[in-house]
Amino acid sequence: MKKKSASLRTAQPRPQRARGASSKTTRASVPTAPHALPLHKAPIHPGSILSSTQLTVEGVSKILALASDLESEAVRTRELRLHKRRVSLLFYESSTRTRTSFELAAKSLGADTVLVSALSSSIEKGESLKDTGITLRSLGAECIILRHPSSGAPYLLAQATGLPILNAGDGIHEHPSQALLDLRTILYRCFGAKQARSVTEKSLRGMTIAIVGDIFHSRVARSNALLLPKLGARVLFCGPQPLLPEHAADIGPGVSIERDFDRALQQADVVMMLRVQQERLSGLQLDLENYTRRYQLDAARLAAQAPRALVLHPGPIIRGMEITSEVADGPQSAIEEQVHHGLAIRMALLTRALETPATPSARKKTRR
Ligand code: NCD
Repeated sequence: MKKKSASLRTAQPRPQRARGASSKTTRASVPTAPHALPLHKAPIHPGSILSSTQLTVEGVSKILALASDLESEAVRTRELRLHKRRVSLLFYESSTRTRTSFELAAKSLGADTVLVSALSSSIEKGESLKDTGITLRSLGAECIILRHPSSGAPYLLAQATGLPILNAGDGIHEHPSQALLDLRTILYRCFGAKQARSVTEKSLRGMTIAIVGDIFHSRVARSNALLLPKLGARVLFCGPQPLLPEHAADIGPGVSIERDFDRALQQADVVMMLRVQQERLSGLQLDLENYTRRYQLDAARLAAQAPRALVLHPGPIIRGMEITSEVADGPQSAIEEQVHHGLAIRMALLTRALETPATPSARKKTRR
């Protein structure tokens, strides 16, 4: 339990030391060889998006404006944006929405993409993340989109390669592009397209976003709880103790806990439902019948407690468990729109990643 509680804190995860990377530079080491640099000293490319903690209000505004510009641009013009630039998708975990939308986003900007997934690559043979990253860089990758089961893996890859890294979900840590697309969905549905181009510290003032379910294992919950309060929103976590430890509210300002689902719904302008991440429960016994009774969002509950709230879900949805089909497909649901906004946000993140110049030290690192 002690270990679990530490992982809910907001501190940047300490990058794991890759196999063979030394923490000391000895006289025999060659300081300019990228993989000989101690990882903790290696620079992170400023085009990287690793966590919501790095996003400023101004930075979020720039991403939103770029997403809108790219979305409305003529197809031919857009295809020239990243013409023939090389983007790698490195996926150690399964994914439908995130992988497909990053890939389609890259392609619609004219980039060449290559997908490396754990099951069909040397990863299966035991190759380390660092070596896989260096290999992709040697093959010309200019940006890597990473999904990995270990929290903090994108930091290690960013430091090992010097390339811009986009975090597509790392363990139970973060999923910043999901939080940005959730934000764009909220802005569109609650305020309209024009207001979805920029934000201030007050954009979501007075709004309560209830995030419900398996908070503990959710990188989506964490990235949203770190982003939305920066824009004035109140985040209300709701779930049973084993999936929502008390200290989860310490993640940052503007976050509190309401265990009673009905009471959370009564306060919510937006309700974000999460699935129980069965693959991460590691031995935790959960009475699913009881869970469903207490925390399922069904039509009767929604009508009684939050008849005007917007319903979100990052997917995959387990219909009949955390949400019923009637609600998921109903008029208050913006679940399909979330997927749509993912494309625009990821086009913006890729453009930002490839157009942001490296810091001089990162440039030296990637020079081949
Ligand atoms: C989530 C993820 O993988 O973190 N899905 C997503 O990326 N849209 C949530 C989940 O797996 O439950």
